Amino acid sequence: MADKLIIFDTTLRDGEQSPGASMTKDEKLRIARQLERLKVDVIEAGFAASSNGDFEAVQSIARTIKDSTICSLSRANDRDISRAAEALQGAASARIHTFIATSALHMEKKLRMTPEQVHEQAKLAVRFARNLVADVEFSPEDGYRSDIDFLCRVLESVIKEGATTLNIPDTVGYAVPELYGHFIKTLREKIPNSDKAIWSVHCHNDLGMAVANSLAGVKIGGARQVECTINGLGERAGNCALEEIVMAVRTRKDYFGLEVGIDATQIVPASRMVSQTTGFVVQPNKAVVGANAFAHASGIHQDGVLKARDTYEIMRAEDVGWSANKIVLGKLSGRNAFKQRLQDLGVLLDSETEINTAFTRFKELADRKSEIFDEDILALVSDESLTSEKEKYGFVSLSQHSETGERPHAAIVFTVDGKEVHGESDGNGPVDASLKAIESHAKSGAEMVLYSVNAISGSTESQGEVTVRLQNSGRVVNGIGADPDIVVASAKAYLSALNKLHSKSDRVAAQG
Ligand code: KIV
Ligand code: ZN
Repeated sequence: MADKLIIFDTTLRDGEQSPGASMTKDEKLRIARQLERLKVDVIEAGFAASSNGDFEAVQSIARTIKDSTICSLSRANDRDISRAAEALQGAASARIHTFIATSALHMEKKLRMTPEQVHEQAKLAVRFARNLVADVEFSPEDGYRSDIDFLCRVLESVIKEGATTLNIPDTVGYAVPELYGHFIKTLREKIPNSDKAIWSVHCHNDLGMAVANSLAGVKIGGARQVECTINGLGERAGNCALEEIVMAVRTRKDYFGLEVGIDATQIVPASRMVSQTTGFVVQPNKAVVGANAFAHASGIHQDGVLKARDTYEIMRAEDVGWSANKIVLGKLSGRNAFKQRLQDLGVLLDSETEINTAFTRFKELADRKSEIFDEDILALVSDESLTSEKEKYGFVSLSQHSETGERPHAAIVFTVDGKEVHGESDGNGPVDASLKAIESHAKSGAEMVLYSVNAISGSTESQGEVTVRLQNSGRVVNGIGADPDIVVASAKAYLSALNKLHSKSDRVAAQG
């Protein structure tokens, strides 16, 4: 029986640290359910001490998910660790992941601590965490740029204190595969008690090598856990992509000789869910989950694939869940079929009222669009007005006029705290006019840092899904809106972003 490679997913923690990718508690729970269906071994659900919102998200995930270990990040101090343990109470299997920086640069400039102080704090943190849970992971932040002898001393001590997993982050994405692989190998060889813990890799993608570095950490270094995110979501250039790691290890089992417990048919649904929830669109040529990943356009390739698939295909599209893109419901589908499809997609709405609202929206959409795909359903329910209390802003109606040679004009009706207001404006294009019409009333003063439109299921008949990223007073939020009319989708996305800006949260940076 081959060795097992543990898949540790940090989409909901490190992935969420990407500006604009922050998710609500309900969104996180929905993604956690999908990660459970994907059969990831460990879900890092958040950083419980960073905000009340994140605490509640970790708590609800810990109480709901049964088949994956649920983990919370915490800095190396008693308060963070206690908060993590509190949030994890009730989990079928719980892990605390505590970290402190060990590179000379981070210790001196960021922590303003001596190496001895860091060493002591790491020991105390792991000891404290081990009194609360049996499964404790320790990460020396910026580990790859740390002095190797100092790192060995710290890691040896935390193993003695009971750390069960040691994770070596390449926090700034500086590593190259061969050197990173040997770095892990050297640590394991030099540390006398290294066999008492599982070794883990955590690579950022600044030089586009996160997956290659992680695989080298596994192959050369002997690591048996990889930390990764769906679609490689994460700060700056992102994290190591889960789908690429899993499919590399599966497809090249001859080379890696490792087992992964993942249900690969859930990869594409997970990718879509994360992309739709965060508004981070997947590039078409992205390995495994990009729209073109299995498309053979050249005549020679098409001919080859028709004669024998394996001439040009090393993986089968259906093995990673591509067949999920099918028409699921239509105009005549009833409430029960709709409810069942929501359940299959992992969307559990809290009340009958929410299901009724979602079903009414589904019927409205089915009147305008004959084929309803899974993506349409997810877009319908990803609108936070369905699941949250009362939102400040709500879309009511929009009319706009544009004609060649004339300046477009839009008139919008929307609600502010339940009361209808009207706004009008012209603009460079119909979308610009519509958003200016909203702003003429909302006066948020927010700066738009991203606007993108995507066809949910490929053709012009599909719904347009719009992402609007707004920045205001240091906060960055994503709003998402979907509608067959992309100008309406844009207005909905803008209002959704304003709602997120309005709901102040008190997150603190995980790397702080
Ligand atoms: O990249 C990093 O160093 C981290 C740690 C907190 C594990 O995400
Ligand atoms: Zn990280």
